[in-house]
Amino acid sequence: MSGGEARVAIAGTGFIGAVHARSARLAGARLVGVAASSPERSAHAAAVLGAERAFGSAEELVEAPDVDIVHICTPNHLHRPLAEAALAAGKHVICEKPLAVDDHGAEEMLEAASAAGRMTAVPFVYRFYPCVREARERVRTGVSGPVRLIHGGYLQDWLLKATDDNWRVDEQLGGASRAFADIGSHWCDLAEFVSGHRITRLCARTYAAYPERVTEDAVILQFETDRGAVGSAVISQISAGRKNQLKLEIDAAEEALAFDQEEPDGLWIGRREHATLLKRDPAVLSPAAARYATVPAGHPQGYNDCFDAFVADAYEAARTGEAPDGLPDFRDGLRAARITAAVLTSAETETWVDVPSATALTAETADV
Ligand SMILES: NC(=O)c1ccc[n+]([C@@H]2O[C@H](COP(=O)([O-])OP(=O)(O)OC[C@H]3O[C@@H](n4cnc5c(N)ncnc54)[C@H](O)[C@@H]3O)[C@@H](O)[C@H]2O)c1
Repeated sequence: MSGGEARVAIAGTGFIGAVHARSARLAGARLVGVAASSPERSAHAAAVLGAERAFGSAEELVEAPDVDIVHICTPNHLHRPLAEAALAAGKHVICEKPLAVDDHGAEEMLEAASAAGRMTAVPFVYRFYPCVREARERVRTGVSGPVRLIHGGYLQDWLLKATDDNWRVDEQLGGASRAFADIGSHWCDLAEFVSGHRITRLCARTYAAYPERVTEDAVILQFETDRGAVGSAVISQISAGRKNQLKLEIDAAEEALAFDQEEPDGLWIGRREHATLLKRDPAVLSPAAARYATVPAGHPQGYNDCFDAFVADAYEAARTGEAPDGLPDFRDGLRAARITAAVLTSAETETWVDVPSATALTAETADV
């Protein structure tokens, strides 16, 4: 891509495709086109999302000569073929999580990205809350002290009832893991991002509420990290009344930090003497966090703002070749896929399972 506004296209125009389209426009991109599951749906989506044209298919979209950046927002089983075709055609690729339906697929995608030398990004967007960046800074700069415990969970209720259904429940479309690949991947990414630790070993139990569902509704996870911390998380899509509650707590030697995705404008900081709720006020945040505060304190920021920041950073990486700090890419997508694979193996074998290290992965692909 050489200067000027980015020419982007979006494959998959459901919930998240529309979020991507909005963020792309705000980042100043030209939305050249979209593709949905049929030409009729593509035409409808192009009109609703204000795209210049509707592609006949996602396969056509990823190879279009007038597109620089492809957003892949389809069901999971299509991520890999579309991303690989887009990279082969020389496109930069933003691909939704989970990167692939298994860790082998994610490895192949990272190899394709390394060979292509294009920008890749995976929307682990919770990284883009200012209070998440603030927590990360407090750990990174040593204010919090060494991290000892990492805990929390990610709870939703949209698959609570036997009649609740979605393509994600079909393992051919969603993959062998459902709740963990879908939302546990977000939690683990955030836990590693904020703590700076890497999960090295884990023990997991899966839970299925209904016999007809092949993939898990919930996961109970315990883990150890490369820097001596231990942790746990509950991941569930059957927790009544919980809509999108991602909670992360870090207990370090000097203080504890707690973040709640449903109350993202505050960071709870616990000390022995007192506990405080740090408000997302650009005037008091560290520069790394203030960078993502787009409105003054007291004016709520939310999920769409995270997406806007993520997409803007991804486009900057494509334009300059330099990724802004904290931009999640295919290496992070593979990392989540490896943790997910270890969760399934642990649940099946009822044992602790090692997670391949991130260090080797980074060294192999330093040029991505
Ligand atoms: N990063 C996040 O926070 C986040 C949030 C939600 C979803 N996601 C991910 O985004 C992806 C889509 O999820 P969603 O919630 O938008 O699902 P959705 O069901 O709302 O939308 C999926 C879309 O894909 C389209 N589609 C199906 N087959 C297609 C094909 N062959 N070609 C082109 N389009 C096709 C469908 O028409 C539909 O519009 C999933 O991988 C999911 O994990 C990520």
